Amino acid sequence: MKKKKIKFILGIETSCDDTSVSIVDNDRNILSNIVINQNSKHRKYGGIVPEIAARAHTDNIDNALKQSLLKAKISLNEVDLICSTAGPGLIGGLIVGTTFSKTLSCILKKPFVAVNHLEGHALTARLVYGIKYPYLLLLASGGHTQLILVKKYGIYKRISTTLDDAAGETFDKAAKLLKLPPPGGVEIEKLSLIGNNKAFRLPRPLYKSNNPNFSFSGLKTAFSRLVNMTNIEKNKNDLAATLQSAIVDCIIDRTRLAIDNLENNLNITRLVAAGGVISNIFLRKKLMELAKIKNLKFYAPPINLCTDNGAMIAWSGYEKFKNFGSSSLDFKPRPRWPLDPDSYLNHPTMKKIGKKGIKA
Ligand code: KG4
Ligand code: ZN
Repeated sequence: MKKKKIKFILGIETSCDDTSVSIVDNDRNILSNIVINQNSKHRKYGGIVPEIAARAHTDNIDNALKQSLLKAKISLNEVDLICSTAGPGLIGGLIVGTTFSKTLSCILKKPFVAVNHLEGHALTARLVYGIKYPYLLLLASGGHTQLILVKKYGIYKRISTTLDDAAGETFDKAAKLLKLPPPGGVEIEKLSLIGNNKAFRLPRPLYKSNNPNFSFSGLKTAFSRLVNMTNIEKNKNDLAATLQSAIVDCIIDRTRLAIDNLENNLNITRLVAAGGVISNIFLRKKLMELAKIKNLKFYAPPINLCTDNGAMIAWSGYEKFKNFGSSSLDFKPRPRWPLDPDSYLNHPTMKKIGKKGIKA
């Protein structure tokens, strides 16, 4: 499809358990950002059930689009570009979102862009604050914990990743042990507000190590043991606060190492944080302090743009379109889709590529 001036961008996000549809304009204004969450549907299972998530996206996506257009005060015909998350994520949800978007693209005769969800998070600070490349990115979400050099659009160098669980996953699993409803991180943060973070001792895997990567599985196991030995009801707040502190300490320590190891010639002056875990106020405060000590400017999106949303998909799709044009309607959703194509070569565990492709 021929490139034309783009004004209104539609962003559709369905990679996990939030159905989100947003309209963003080419001037970085978020005209609408509708998020329909499915928390109540998954609650009784203690985690996200992929089949239920896919069905809920099917139920919600039409309504989310209608609400989004209404809020943005534009008609569907005024949309110039249709961007949809095409991976990484749960395949059922990705199929719903991309099929819906491709259908709109055919009917409206407007270009379609297949967006990498991680790129959506990675570029949110550009949407919100208009910051320039390059920057050091801390991406911490339910499925990923990575430090990445964002050099310019499409050029990403991974510095480190998690060897096992992601930070968000650790919050979620710990919350489940405390019998808290999803999303775990939010509940742990609430309880922590009046908890004593020194009430118990928990390990901080890889703390002060020269290995640049993250690891949370040892912490998760230790927390599980601690919970089994402790009266949960009486100690909920202290348990949550101790866990939150341990996760935050690990993230700060790894980020500090990445900053210390930055190559001087790159002249990185910005630390950017993104992903659901960055909603955590305690973590944001610590990152801000770290950035100040290291003489970097710190940027984190507002909380509603840290967790999954269509606005980040619209914006990164727009950047992709400006750089590389539209995507083919044959584009297949990719449950695995790392930001940097060489990631499997650099991955610390050197895992081989599986049937589903390289793990992001
Ligand atoms: O980016 P996101 O919305 O979805 C993924 O791409 O995974 O991140 C979701 C993750 C969940 O693990 C959730 O528990 C965590 O972000 N999260 C938080 C907070 N809010 C969401 N973790 C800690 N503190 C929070 N306030
Ligand atoms: Zn996400």
